[in-house]
Amino acid sequence: MLSDDLTRAESQITRHPDYPEPGVVFRDITPLLADGTSLRAVTDAMYRPFAGGFDIVAGVEARGFLLAGTIASLAGTGVLPIRKAGKLPDPAASIEYTLEYGSARIEAPGVLFPGARVLVVDDILATGGTLAASQQLVRELGGELVGTTVILELDGLGGRETVGDHVHSVFTAAL
Ligand code: PRP
Ligand code: ADE
Repeated sequence: MLSDDLTRAESQITRHPDYPEPGVVFRDITPLLADGTSLRAVTDAMYRPFAGGFDIVAGVEARGFLLAGTIASLAGTGVLPIRKAGKLPDPAASIEYTLEYGSARIEAPGVLFPGARVLVVDDILATGGTLAASQQLVRELGGELVGTTVILELDGLGGRETVGDHVHSVFTAAL
């Protein structure tokens, strides 16, 4: 059962039909991020199942950055920023992927020590394209993927199948 703080946090995720394109129901986590109690409750719930088992938190630009920084601070680890293409001077790995509304390329710097245990975080799991690409980047960098965690998993887009077994979601919603 969810705590009162988590129940309130879930209610702060707003739905926006036909954004950013027709047919997509966009979930906006901005109100949740703006509430300190909700942000704390959600980031705590995201990393608890993996607590003590990771050396660094990888977050996907842009919303994943906010969560990765917060979780790293709670856990006392560093952050691996996974960036959209063209933002890093010397990327060590790069991969193109598709997501619910388009396609993109992400890149990562070569800052992992060999075998570093990596927790990958993001806000939404939709098709899983973004997280699967992030997992692939972590492996190419020589990291050990120990888990993947999100605030909200959207059911019905095959995301969990794409991303694999070790994905934890605080909330789940039907499309
Ligand atoms: C959103 C979201 C996830 C991704 C999920 O990112 O933050 O990273 O889509 O979709 P998928 O499961 O279909 O791959 P977006 O690329 O819109 O970037 P943003 O964080 O910069 O808004
Ligand atoms: N990323 C991919 N699909 C999304 C959705 N429906 N809402 C918010 N972010 C998303």
